Amino acid sequence: MNKLVYADNAATTKVSESVLNAMLPYFSENYGNASSLYPHGQNSKKAINAARVPIAQLINADPSEIFFTGSGTESDNMVIRGVLNSVAAKNKGRNHVITTKIEHPAILRTCEAMAKQGFEITYLNVDSNGVISLEELENAITEKTALISIMAANNEIGSIQPLKEIGEIAKKHNVLFHTDAVQALGHMHIDVQEMNISLMSLSAHKIHGPKGVGAIYIKKNVFPDPIITGGGQERNRRSGTENVPGIVGFGQAAQDMIDHMEEDNAHTAKLSKRLMEGLLEIKKSVLTGHPTNRLPGTCSFAFEAIEGESMILMLGMKGICASTGSACSTGSLDPSHVLMAIGLTHQNAHGSLRLSISKYTTEEDVEYIIESVKEVVAKLRAMSPVWHE
Ligand SMILES: Cc1ncc(COP(=O)(O)O)c(C=O)c1O
Repeated sequence: MNKLVYADNAATTKVSESVLNAMLPYFSENYGNASSLYPHGQNSKKAINAARVPIAQLINADPSEIFFTGSGTESDNMVIRGVLNSVAAKNKGRNHVITTKIEHPAILRTCEAMAKQGFEITYLNVDSNGVISLEELENAITEKTALISIMAANNEIGSIQPLKEIGEIAKKHNVLFHTDAVQALGHMHIDVQEMNISLMSLSAHKIHGPKGVGAIYIKKNVFPDPIITGGGQERNRRSGTENVPGIVGFGQAAQDMIDHMEEDNAHTAKLSKRLMEGLLEIKKSVLTGHPTNRLPGTCSFAFEAIEGESMILMLGMKGICASTGSACSTGSLDPSHVLMAIGLTHQNAHGSLRLSISKYTTEEDVEYIIESVKEVVAKLRAMSPVWHE
């Protein structure tokens, strides 16, 4: 089996050739430490600063508001821990965070850790499309609320949140607004000024950049406590010798998005439409997440009487890389918290399938996926004791 049809771009993406080429000289030629004063080091510093520019442009921020981290997970940790621990929050007795039930574990597990330390966390519900209620959000705000942390778009079902309206509520109540835009960057309109966003988490490897490089947008005059202290790199926000090749790669990936955003998103949206139409021909199948207001490349389904893990393994044997929010694959006995939050039954949630496509996905790939999923679902149902037409 040599065929590889990669449809798990929400998990990670292939590093593009332009990104790889941009990174290479920073391993072998321009390897100076960005903190060194001689020109060899200053070249690295210049490259880091240049990388901030396209990332800032993608979200309408100032380059000085972009700070590099080691991952999207680290950025999320920095926001939750850093804001709650910041002197500003403590002085005002602000010990409360409002988030949602469908956040990535980087937010949820960090909130749980902070709750153990005595901080208060409110988890907002979402409707069956995976979208929060603005009324519930506004009602949850108290004078102790330090932060609203709501993801821009969900990693499992692709649903997009009403960022502008959330930003208005945050502004009205003078609360910081953070959004985890790791999945959203370059795939939807994000404008930190128009949306009143104070903090944002980003990650390179979801946009054809390298793994292990993240960024955090921090609005001017916002000061979360650093969670990694040391030599004071990244203007004292995140210590540790900078990953120069990784940062350069992130910058190039962002530039590529700026240059080709419209055509790439139109391409993935067109293929997604075909994929959804094709797979929804399967009996007792549903599209999970918002029917229209969703990321262009993230397609998520649930098939009745199917075991998600078995589906992934059988698709894997056909060379297709996909993912499921079903139990064992995520190492827990419960099905995905996201699918539970949108009201799927346990049985349906166990038959979930996420296919996330990219600019590299072709029409032939999509036809092959449709044909293969239909075949696998039919085979599994034929063996299933619970399936009846
Ligand atoms: C919404 C969301 N937030 C955070 C992360 C974590 O990012 P990273 O893999 O860079 O740690 C992911 C990765 O899957 C994600 O999808």
